[in-house]
Amino acid sequence: MQWINDKRGYGWLSIALHWLAAIAIVAMFVTGFRAEMAGDAGDRELRAALMGMHISIGASIVLLLLARVVASYAQPRPAAPEQAPPFKLLAVGTHQLLLLAILIQVVSGPLAVWSGGRAIDVFGLFSIPTPFAERNEGVHELAEVLHAIGRWALIVLISVHVLGALKHAVIDRDGIMRRMLAPPKSA
Ligand code: HEM
Ligand code: HEM
Repeated sequence: MQWINDKRGYGWLSIALHWLAAIAIVAMFVTGFRAEMAGDAGDRELRAALMGMHISIGASIVLLLLARVVASYAQPRPAAPEQAPPFKLLAVGTHQLLLLAILIQVVSGPLAVWSGGRAIDVFGLFSIPTPFAERNEGVHELAEVLHAIGRWALIVLISVHVLGALKHAVIDRDGIMRRMLAPPKSA
């Protein structure tokens, strides 16, 4: 069983982290945007419930998302496929910015809760206390701005990323999609 990446492809660790993180990020978008919609509709109770879910799920997946970023840098990177230089640049740039946007969300989310002077409540099971002595408006606003930048960056980057994956799967048919589904055959 190949766990670690090599020049030919991804190992199971990267493949598992890639897809688990993708599912986790979708869950964060669903709860985050539904909370925003409830807020816009003036339903404060529903907004609070959905935000509680967003924060609880977020706290539960922070380590998964961090592991996903660290594992990407701690392992050999599979060789980039042959394609026109602008596409190579676009692929590398998108991957790096995706990892950065994930980091921004993982840091700004908890910071937004803590700087509001609140603890992070995880499904009512336990809570992670705030390191702030009291509400810090400056840090809170910065965290909210960063969280908004990270979320819109993720939307644009994931769209480009999925289009790229489809290009490789449907037009190029070069095995790039396959290598994010299973390690190289003869390993
Ligand atoms: C939340 C959604 C997603 C995120 C954040 C994400 C992130 C990434 C990152 C950072 C890489 C670079 C490899 C690494 O550093 O480990 C990667 C590779 C890859 N992703 Fe995603 N991904 C997402 C969703 C998807 C989806 C939906 C597909 C398929 C339609 C996909 C297909 C691929 C493929 C095929 C590769 C391998 C590219 C290569 O070998 O050069 N990803 N992804
Ligand atoms: C990839 C991960 C994440 C994504 C895609 C994401 C997405 C979102 C979205 C779409 C909103 C709605 C904004 C609004 O109501 O205007 C939001 C708000 C929020 N999120 Fe996240 N989030 C992520 C991670 C986290 C984490 C890990 C936490 C904390 C544990 C967190 C805490 C919050 C808080 C407190 C808010 C409300 C304050 C604000 O609007 O900035 N988020 N997030």
